[in-house]
Amino acid sequence: MDDPGFQRLQRLVRQHAETSRLLGVDFVPAFSRQAPASLHAQPTLLPPKTPTPVPPLTPEVPKQAQVAAPTRIDPLPKATPAGKPVEATPRTGGTKDRAKAQLALDELKARYEHEAPHKQFVTAHTRIVFGEGDPIARVVFVGEAPGEEEDRTGRPFVGRSGELLTKMLVAMGLAREQVYICNVMKTRPPDNATPTATEIAICEPYLREQIGIIAPEAIVTLGLPAARALLHTQESMTKMRGRWRTYELSPGVVVPLMPTFHPAYVLRNYTEETRGQVWSDLCDVVEKLGMPRPVRAKPANG
Ligand code: URA
Repeated sequence: MDDPGFQRLQRLVRQHAETSRLLGVDFVPAFSRQAPASLHAQPTLLPPKTPTPVPPLTPEVPKQAQVAAPTRIDPLPKATPAGKPVEATPRTGGTKDRAKAQLALDELKARYEHEAPHKQFVTAHTRIVFGEGDPIARVVFVGEAPGEEEDRTGRPFVGRSGELLTKMLVAMGLAREQVYICNVMKTRPPDNATPTATEIAICEPYLREQIGIIAPEAIVTLGLPAARALLHTQESMTKMRGRWRTYELSPGVVVPLMPTFHPAYVLRNYTEETRGQVWSDLCDVVEKLGMPRPVRAKPANG
């Protein structure tokens, strides 16, 4: 088949399968090497190693979000408290806690909508993208700002970056519904511009409160602006990435924070090195949560 569009799609599908494999996902659709993958063929799904009820991922169809809508899923059990008085106390994970936290998040969202801090600067938004996930998640992922797809749906990380983030979570042994995902900025900037220091300063108190309600045991920042916003630093990504830092929730109360690359950066710099670095950071997070360290899939050709 010489159709360049078809070849591009084939490349995209292969690239995504490869990413998933490198991130340790072992149930991506498997295509035969002899027969070219047909766009319309049904992929063979290999069973997942763990019985976690994770929605199956399908090969990318350009311009179409593959991120499943939130569904009920068992929350991650909380680890035994680490006993470090300086770290935010993990919640017990009881139904009451969850309901209470959800209520507090709903109230905060309503307050954000009412106060509309984004009116103080120029945005290109149609919807506020507040955040989603388990209100008492053990780990919170913080990105920069909503993009086009996020603005359209009102949900964080549902475009191409979101699709990769979902795969990263699966590789870690987590489902989207078991973590909390949000952004520093709750509204889409014009031309997806990097938020300014002033814009971040205006929005950060809401993020701080949001994280305070969830009281996670770890935070993962995705990309440089999110890491800089939470850590109040101008350090480079090279210096920060892969090293545990602390986010000061309130005086004397800190949450461990792992800065890693933004999925969009990984997609733009699609090298084994970049993917390996993100994978190493995520494994450190898994370890911090006391979960079994996932095994990274070996390359198909050795
Ligand atoms: N990039 C982000 O930083 N956040 C999103 O929600 C989507 C893309």
